[in-house]
Amino acid sequence: MILVSNRLPVTIDSIDGNLTARPSAGGLVTALVPIIREQGGSWVGFTGTDYDSRLTGVLNNWHATHNYSLHPVYMSSSERECFYNGFSNQIIWPLFHGLASRCHYDSAYWHSYRNGNGKFAQSVQSIWKNGDFVWVQDYHLMLVGESLRRRGFRNRISYFHHIPFPTPDVFEALPWRTELLFALMHYDVIGFQTLRDVRNFVASLWRFLPDTRITHFGKNLLVETRGLTATIGCYPVSIDFAEFNAAGSPVTRATAAAIAKEAGGMKVVVGVDRLDYTKGILQRLRGFRRLLEMHPESRGTITMFQIVIPSREDIPEYKQLKISIEMLISEINGEYSTPGWTPIHYFHRSVPRDELLGYYRAAHIALITPLRDGMNLVAKEFCAARADDLGVLVLSEFAGAAEELGNGALLVNPNDIDAIAACLYSALTMNEAEQERRMKMMRSTVRTNDVFHWARSFAGDTVAFAAEPPLAASRMAGD
Ligand code: ADP
Ligand code: G6P
Repeated sequence: MILVSNRLPVTIDSIDGNLTARPSAGGLVTALVPIIREQGGSWVGFTGTDYDSRLTGVLNNWHATHNYSLHPVYMSSSERECFYNGFSNQIIWPLFHGLASRCHYDSAYWHSYRNGNGKFAQSVQSIWKNGDFVWVQDYHLMLVGESLRRRGFRNRISYFHHIPFPTPDVFEALPWRTELLFALMHYDVIGFQTLRDVRNFVASLWRFLPDTRITHFGKNLLVETRGLTATIGCYPVSIDFAEFNAAGSPVTRATAAAIAKEAGGMKVVVGVDRLDYTKGILQRLRGFRRLLEMHPESRGTITMFQIVIPSREDIPEYKQLKISIEMLISEINGEYSTPGWTPIHYFHRSVPRDELLGYYRAAHIALITPLRDGMNLVAKEFCAARADDLGVLVLSEFAGAAEELGNGALLVNPNDIDAIAACLYSALTMNEAEQERRMKMMRSTVRTNDVFHWARSFAGDTVAFAAEPPLAASRMAGD
């Protein structure tokens, strides 16, 4: 397997001329590391730096301890600015999350995106060996398939889209909408997180490539347009359930005990996010404040731990959000704290996995309120960590995870501050029998549909598509 993603699981920072390595953060890395660690293979991705010969040793030795190799793609700071900060994160990211007003359209970004995708394609081509399964990941690399085809690459290439795909009415704002859709059609299999994303993608194909023909292909769809054929399917990404379900290390137990001690019998609410405006962190804090306003009896009985990991800090919106979050937390704490009670504890840093498990276990409520999210793995991690079958998940109805966890979570519209407060109140007052009933259902879903199931289904469908001629497809009703 050759995994291709913008980010390698390790990011190198160059600080004052010194190189430091840190684990990369985010759902994509969380999902893919267990897969490639188990299966072996190669991972092609960006190091975070320009070319640096000092890195060669670090990257070359990776295979010996991790069972897979790293193949770096280097980018200069101007490439990073236009390809990563620009096209990927100031056009596609906001637009695909339905936040069109945050987009900064710039044709220089588009050119850099094309070139950047070409760079990744070149790197894949240089290591590909007969029979390798090339699996491209996420929105930074939508053009890699097309670029590989232009270089004469004839083998299977699949793509998984980790973020939402917007409705055609939102997608149409993109000046390069047709080029992008047509490029995606060069992949053999295209995977989305939810049925909603599949529907939106198909609707955009019909709108912007009107000669597209769509038929059923097993449980997937077969799409044909301008001589290109791809299958499209829904594959909700997941986590390594067993890893989060396991007892954890002494650090896990010590963290859970320290939080319980700090809480002193109060109910603990936890929020864990990359610092991103799509995560609805401000809305969640306002919801928490509304609870304190509406239910004065809850004051002193509940405390929130909001953990954010710094993300995309070169982009002004992200810098501004950090300030807004910190101001709001300080306002709420200033308004409500009493001696011995701090309503919100705030951490702005990466927390190691075993410590994070301690937070999940000590929490009474996980409050997860993205305005829109491809999946949201934190929701699944919280459930997997709750081997005691207790705890309440309050989850945005606009997270992909809501499609799978809606049977046990309290679903909420993250734009509705009163509803967040009401859900928090229901969670606070939910008895253990009800918590257990709900948590059991969610845990069973995550246990069955873990990340290995995700990868197997995707890879299996790629093989099936390779084996079966597209003519086996039956026409889609009403098409
Ligand atoms: P996204 O993919 O947008 O980053 P997800 O919720 O799917 O959102 O995945 C986030 C991942 O990052 C999860 O695996 C979560 O545990 C991890 N994470 C989030 N915040 C932190 C933090 N402060 N420290 C360590 N890991 C974090
Ligand atoms: C989301 C995206 C990933 C990305 C991650 C972290 O999960 O789907 O592709 O890697 O966020 O963002 P970053 O910009 O730090 O890679």
